[in-house]
Formats: sequence, structure tokens, C-alpha cells
Amino acid sequence: FEVSWDASAAEKGGWPSFMAKEIDEDPEAVANTLRGRIVEGRVALPDLDALGDDFFNDIHRIIIVACGTAAYSAQVGAYAMEKWARVPVQVELAHEFRYRDPVLDSRTLIVSMSQSGETMDTLMAVRYAMSRGAKTLSICNTQGATIPRESDAVVYTHAGPEVAVASTKAFLAQITALYLLGIYTATVRGTMTDERREELLTEFQTIPEKVRTVLGVRERIHELANWMADTRSVLYLGRNVGYPIALEGALKLKEIAYIHAEGFAAGELKHGPIALIEPGQPVFVIVPSPRHDDTLHPKIVSNIQEIRARGARVLAICEVGDAAVLPYADEVIAVPPTEPFFEPLLAVVPLQIFAIELATAKGLDVDQPRNLAKSVTVE
Ligand code: G6P
Repeated sequence: FEVSWDASAAEKGGWPSFMAKEIDEDPEAVANTLRGRIVEGRVALPDLDALGDDFFNDIHRIIIVACGTAAYSAQVGAYAMEKWARVPVQVELAHEFRYRDPVLDSRTLIVSMSQSGETMDTLMAVRYAMSRGAKTLSICNTQGATIPRESDAVVYTHAGPEVAVASTKAFLAQITALYLLGIYTATVRGTMTDERREELLTEFQTIPEKVRTVLGVRERIHELANWMADTRSVLYLGRNVGYPIALEGALKLKEIAYIHAEGFAAGELKHGPIALIEPGQPVFVIVPSPRHDDTLHPKIVSNIQEIRARGARVLAICEVGDAAVLPYADEVIAVPPTEPFFEPLLAVVPLQIFAIELATAKGLDVDQPRNLAKSVTVE
């Protein structure tokens, strides 16, 4: 009698790939990154004490450096941080940052975002910033990695080990950490009322459950992906925090399904990309909730009408019950209602699932995509 034992299958916990398992862990990635950090209606981040008293009152600028998926989570976080904490926040690709002689000083905070904490481009950007007198804060998923070790302070994401090359659960954990940092900074700087903070933190704690609900779209997306297996190009449109989600959705599809994909800011459509729309072109549109938003929602709906009139196949990710979208969308993927800044944490999940389902339909190895490495330790 012989028991066959496949260590790798066991590690995948019954899932066909690490990536599938890690997408299923999206809710825990958020929950574990929040755990212990909301105390009596406030954000507790004792790790930031290392930056010194009053540091967050003195800074006049935050630059987040990152590569790949981490740069997109950074972009989502930057929108929120700037809005909440009233400090300019910009995102730079780490490999561009130090070659343009940026203006830096001790009142500039450089936040590095890296799942592995070993990405050479990001590490070199951090070292450069330190040598120019800036303070550095690492947001990292790997305890004791090089970037957090060399930084002035660190906030760990607690997504758990991520094995698949394409990043999924870490992306949600990174946004979570940046939002905590944003709420913390806004509190210290006195730019957010107690009521607003409590409202945000209460809603934040419901997000893991809402992400879990969104994971329920897997079956539908599986069918969608199966009959889209021959697709040669997919476009993604979003606005505000939905814009980096469009970029991330496109990146996932390129990385693991080897399909040409591009994300655009929806407002940019008329300035060029609309020329790409021809009959049958699939376009994912990330639609903000109409309840909070009387400016962007109608604009996105009119983008949908414009591309639909040119024959696009519209795949809309929108709030459940968004009646304005229904008449124009070929597929509606509905997500639960939440605060506008939490919408990206829900909207990205169907895009992760779409990429893995399409790659699987094409018979590809989703954990080890060609030409890519989990952590790029060369410049
Ligand atoms: C590589 C991976 C990407 C990842 C990027 C940044 O290119 O293939 O999935 O987003 O590195 O990695 P980091 O560990 O710094 O977040």
C-alpha cells in the first residue's frame, strides 16, 4: 500500500495553483493587515514612532516608489492619502525616480512599496533618497527583507507568503496599509474629523467580508473567460481610484494570459484610445458608485455609451443595482456598496479572477509565467 504525497499540491491547499489559492486569500490579506491596528476608533501604527515626534506634521511631501503591481496599489493609496491628509503625494516608478535628480530634503517622506522587499530598483531608489536626506518608510510583506531593514521605519502588510509570480492578495494588503497610513497621517495633521475617521474605520472592517462576497463571481467569470479564450486584446477603463485598478487589471492579463491589454484613464479615451474601439473589442469599465458620486458616475456612463455605440463589448464592474449601467453593458459584474475609497479593493478581485480564468482556459501555467520572476533583484 503506497500513499502518494505531492508536497506542492498540499501547499496549494486543494487549489489548482498558488495564484488561485492566493486570490481566495484576498479577504484575509485585508483582515490580517488591519488586525490590531484599529484601536478605540483610531489607527495604531507604533512602528511609525521611529520617524520621530511630530514628523507627520512637518513633512511637506510624500513620494511613493515602487514597481509593477506595487506601483498601482501605491497609486490607489496616493489618491486617498492626499485627500485625507492634505499633503501632496506622488507615485514614481522606482527605476525612473533616481535618474531625474528629484528635489528631496528631510521634510520629504519616501514610502517604498514592495511585496518582497528585495526588488533592486526599489531598493536603489530608497538608498538614493536616504543619501539625499529624505526619511524612508517601507511598506513590505516580507519580515526582515533588505528594504525594510535599511529604511527608517516599516509598516508590514500581513498578506502571508505570496508564491505565484503575479501579485494578487499582496495588492489588497498594500492598499490596506496605505489607507491606514493615510488615516493615521490625517489624524495627526488634524485634517480629518473624528466622525469621518470613525465612519471610514467602521466601513474598513467590513471589507474582508465584502471581498469574500465578490469572490463568488468566480463561476460566472469562468464561463466568460472560456468563451473569450481567443481574445487578442482587452482594454480597461477607470477613473480616480478606478484608474490604477484598470492598469492593474491589464497588467494581470498581460502577465499570466499573454494577451495584449491596456488600462486607460476613462477621461483620456477621447484623446486617443477611442480609435482602438472596433466591433467586438472587449472593454472592462470600472464604474464608481452612483450614490456618492454625481460627477464621475455620469461621465463613466457616457464613456460606456460612446464605446458601446462603436461596437465595444462592455464588461462593467459596478455597484449592485446600478441601473444606469445595465442598458449599455454586455456583462455586469456587481460588487457590494461601500465607501468610494474602498471600491478598488472590491473591483480588482473580478479582474484577478478574469486573468487567471483566461490563462487557465488557454492552458497556461499561471504560477510561473514566461519571462517573469517573483522578485527582480537586478536593475
Ligand atoms: C516583479 C513581479 C511583480 C511585482 C514586481 C514588484 O516584477 O513579477 O508581480 O509586482 O516585481 O515586486 P515587489 O516585491 O517589489 O512588490
